[in-house]
Amino acid sequence: MSSDTQFEKELAAIDLLGPEPSDEHSRELYYIGKLRKLIADRSQAAGRPLTACTVTFGCQMNARDSEKLIGILIKSGFAPTESEDADFVIFNTCTVRDNADQRTFGRLGRISHLKKKNPHMKVAICGCMMQEKGNVEKVRKSYPFVDLIFGTHNIYRFAQYLWEVYDTDRKVTEIWDKTDKIVENLPVERKYPYKSGINIMFGCDNFCSYCIVPYVRGRERSRDPREILRECENLARDGVTEIMLLGQNVNSYGKGLENPISFAQLLEEVCKVEGIRRVRFMTPHPKDLSYDLIRVIRDNPKVARHVHLPLQSGSDRILKKMNRHYTKEQFIALAQKIREEIPDVAITTDIIVGFPGETAQDVDDTVDVIKRVQFDNAYTFIYSPRRGTPAAKMPDQVPADVVKEGFDRVLLTVQENARTRSALLEGRVMEGLVEELNSQKEGYVTCRLSNNMIVHVPGDASLIGTYQPVRLEECRGFYYFGHIEKEA
Ligand code: SAH
Ligand code: SF4
Ligand code: F3S
Repeated sequence: MSSDTQFEKELAAIDLLGPEPSDEHSRELYYIGKLRKLIADRSQAAGRPLTACTVTFGCQMNARDSEKLIGILIKSGFAPTESEDADFVIFNTCTVRDNADQRTFGRLGRISHLKKKNPHMKVAICGCMMQEKGNVEKVRKSYPFVDLIFGTHNIYRFAQYLWEVYDTDRKVTEIWDKTDKIVENLPVERKYPYKSGINIMFGCDNFCSYCIVPYVRGRERSRDPREILRECENLARDGVTEIMLLGQNVNSYGKGLENPISFAQLLEEVCKVEGIRRVRFMTPHPKDLSYDLIRVIRDNPKVARHVHLPLQSGSDRILKKMNRHYTKEQFIALAQKIREEIPDVAITTDIIVGFPGETAQDVDDTVDVIKRVQFDNAYTFIYSPRRGTPAAKMPDQVPADVVKEGFDRVLLTVQENARTRSALLEGRVMEGLVEELNSQKEGYVTCRLSNNMIVHVPGDASLIGTYQPVRLEECRGFYYFGHIEKEA
């Protein structure tokens, strides 16, 4: 049975005129059912379907949350749109660095004139930023037109809040400090038909001293492996061939479950799901990446040849202050082991420059690790103090000009190395999943290789979602131009 049919069957079994059901899953379905009638009536009155736009900031986990928000909006009767000139706009926010906050406030500011134009328009804001009290107060004060505010822990109550906002026309704000619940099987609208993220766990218990995620996403909770496998099977049935298992530290997956299971075991099981051709995962923490996991990647060709291994800093002194639980040499040894065991693997990373107390010598250490590991690519971030984290209170916050010097040096090394690594693939034929039309170059499509490398090749929309042998011809630093190799 398709997931849509299953959903309709479950919804039909709910008494919409009766009282609110007590279990979370049925309760959300109950409100979706009620919204359906309300939104259909309002659409009829407007003479057109009401539209809804979801704006997403942040990581893959937020992207997956947004797919759940869109799923609920569509099932409630809204027509999805990319344009913020919509009847309902929801911002799903990130607060990992200050520039993420600023971008959200900028977008909120711009939307006020749209709301003046369309008095029926409703605006909502949710996600990580809203778990910070100061931000909620700022929204209430500076953007009083916002109709609905909720956080990360109660996102599964979205249908209920949406109903309240439309039914009563009142403003709703509800933020929870925590949750221990995982509500399964609410509707989801996938952005891509052929690939999907899957949450395997929520929250984070690592408390890296610079990071706000544990405060805004709460304690670590793993989903039951049977639920994860069932979701994979359903996705495969719906035509998905590539999945990405998502968690802040996937290596700690399984702790606290009734029958504990390791991430390596879960990955192995996921590879067995028929119809799934590629499995990715994000993010493994270097402190507890097991040899078992390396072995599972090595022995299962379905697992993508890509490990994202966040370094953050190459200096032992800074790593300690960051609470990362590994040293420079341990990290290098781990990366070498991964490269040794898994030929063709790409290793990418995240690096923070400008952590409190960081000196030019610390940056030298980071540069040294980049050179020795030869990352295939890296995201480089300027340290951003986050309220409530230990690092924000540390003395020796680094002056901006010193940070800039270190950042430029790190970025240059990253780019040089990435170029060298990419060039090694020139002339090879590798399997690419055709993901989308190339927006820059007409007549071209964009493929992603197992190692996460992007290759642009001539082709059209009919190829999207297919796997093709692609020849890597012209290296452009981080990506390639090539062509689809005709079968011999
Ligand atoms: N759980 C993942 C990543 C979470 S956030 C992990 O442990 O790798 C993604 C990246 O944002 C981090 O890897 C880190 O490099 C960066 N980041 C997190 N907090 C930051 C801060 N306060 N300032 C700058 N970068 C930060
Ligand atoms: Fe943040 Fe560290 Fe948790 Fe990653 S592992 S989310 S960097 S606290
Ligand atoms: Fe941002 Fe929240 Fe992800 S803070 S990085 S959206 S977990």
